[in-house]
Amino acid sequence: MTTTLAFDVYGTLIDTQGVNIALQKLVGDKAMDFSCTWRDKQLEYSFRRGLMQNYETFAVCTRQALDYTCVYYKTPLTADQKTDLLSIYRVLPAFEDVKAGLTQLKAAGFHLYAFSNGAADALEILLSAAGIRDFFLGIVSVDDLKSFKPNPGVYSHFLRKSKATGNSAWLISSNPFDVIGAISAGMNSAWIRRSPDAIFDPWGIDPTITVYSFTELNKKITEQSPW
Ligand code: 2OP
Repeated sequence: MTTTLAFDVYGTLIDTQGVNIALQKLVGDKAMDFSCTWRDKQLEYSFRRGLMQNYETFAVCTRQALDYTCVYYKTPLTADQKTDLLSIYRVLPAFEDVKAGLTQLKAAGFHLYAFSNGAADALEILLSAAGIRDFFLGIVSVDDLKSFKPNPGVYSHFLRKSKATGNSAWLISSNPFDVIGAISAGMNSAWIRRSPDAIFDPWGIDPTITVYSFTELNKKITEQSPW
């Protein structure tokens, strides 16, 4: 049996803090806090839109979260400054360990997919710009269902699209809500704990494995795959 790996994109493959250098020029030493609030609000908007069944793309969640964050930090950016930030967000870099980890996993014969809240066209641009698009057999977007993670339906959608089964499929994510969503939907899941300060939600639904770097994935997933 082939093991299929679904890689979360924003915050897992792609570093959403990559916008910080541009932010520093606009908001000074508030940049780190600003980008964390922006990211938290982006996810909150996706959760709320999913629950309300009031879908707009993840790009809209990102734009509206930026508007909110500007008001929150009393930093009224111009329309052009916001447009520039959103352009940078469309071509953020991959984390440093990603290429090495994906190279190992592809060579080991795993089937690799990107699986994200982002729309497919935005993901094609993002992954290509980061130089990692060719690692993936395909891109699966929640946009097909007009909903967001962690709706269990989007994980089932991934399994259908990749022709995988829950016991042979893994979600790889640094987002605890995504890991818990995948496990609840019957998949295995690896939590990428990029910082020792990262906290996993204490719901009693634990990751199948926890790793600190992409380059640990090949060994640990192979150990857990009996075929
Ligand atoms: C993604 O789906 C959750 O942002 C995360 O790419």
